[in-house]
Amino acid sequence: MSVMLNQRLMGKTAIITGGAGGIGKATAARLIDEGAQVVITDINLETGNAAAAALGDQALFIQHDVTCPEQWQKVINQTIATYGNLHILVNNAGVCFFNGLLDYSLDDIQTILNINLVSVMLGTQAAAPFISKAGGGAIVNMSSSEGLSSVNGLSAYIASKWAVRGYTKASAMELGPLGIRVNSVHPGGVNTPMANPTAMGKADFDKPYQQYPAQQGAEPENIASVVAFLASEDAAHCMGAEIAVDGGMTTGKYIDFLPGAP
Ligand SMILES: NC(=O)c1ccc[n+]([C@@H]2O[C@H](COP(=O)([O-])OP(=O)(O)OC[C@H]3O[C@@H](n4cnc5c(N)ncnc54)[C@H](O)[C@@H]3O)[C@@H](O)[C@H]2O)c1
Repeated sequence: MSVMLNQRLMGKTAIITGGAGGIGKATAARLIDEGAQVVITDINLETGNAAAAALGDQALFIQHDVTCPEQWQKVINQTIATYGNLHILVNNAGVCFFNGLLDYSLDDIQTILNINLVSVMLGTQAAAPFISKAGGGAIVNMSSSEGLSSVNGLSAYIASKWAVRGYTKASAMELGPLGIRVNSVHPGGVNTPMANPTAMGKADFDKPYQQYPAQQGAEPENIASVVAFLASEDAAHCMGAEIAVDGGMTTGKYIDFLPGAP
C-alpha cells in the first residue's frame, strides 16, 4: 500500500545546511515531498551540486561555509531573491572528530565548536528576522544523542551538541514572540558518512546498536521525518523541545542477565 504524504509544507521555503548528503539531503527530500522549496547549502561544491540535481526543480544549492557570517548573508539574500521569503531553517551541518579529552588540539576544539555551535547562532541571527517577516515559521537545530548523554572520545563534539540544545531553548524563549518555534533533534547512530565512513553493510553498521531498544541504527529518513514534523504546523505548540530520535540509545542499555532483555 502506498501512503500519500500530506502537503503540510506547501508554499514554504526552507534552508537546510549541510544539505549535500546524509541527514541534510534526506531532510531536503522529505521537505520537498511535503510541498516545500528548499535551499541546500554545504561547504562541498561537488556533492552539493549533485544533491541539488538529484532533488530536482524544488532545490537550489548554494555553496556555504556555515562558520562565516558574510556567507550567511549571501545565502539569505539569494534565498529571498529566488523564492521571495523564508519560513524554515534547519541548522544541520556538523563535524565529528574522535580524540581523547586530554589530546584534543585547540585547533580541533575550535573547529568543532565553530561548525557545530557558532554556525547555529549565526544562522539563527541571519534567518530569524526574515522568518518573522514571512509571518513566522520554525528553526530546527540538529543536536545529537550526545547532546543528551555522553561517551568517551567525543568531548568537544559533546560540548558542542549540549550547547546546541541549550541555545535552542534560549532561542525558543526570545524568538517565540516573533512567531518562530525553535526545537532540537537528537539522533543516535545514523547510517551516513559521519557515522559510517567506510560504508559498512547494514548488518555490521547495526551491531553496536543491538543493546538499545531499536536494536539497529537509523537511516537518514528516520530523522528527516521528525524534522518535517517540527517544521510544520503539526508541531505548533512545540517550542524549545528536545526530540530524541535515537532508537532508545538515551533511554537505556539492556543488561543481558536481567529479565526483559531481547
Ligand atoms: N550520523 C549520525 O550518526 C549523527 C548522529 C547524531 C547527530 N548527527 C548530526 O547530524 C548532522 C548531519 O550529520 P550527517 O550524519 O548527515 O553527517 P554528514 O557528514 O553525512 O553530513 C554533514 C554535511 O555537513 C557539511 N559540512 C561540514 N562542514 C561544513 C561547513 N563548515 N559549512 C557547511 N557545511 C559543512 C559536510 O560537507 C556534509 O555534507 C550533524 O550536525 C551531526 O552532528 C549525526
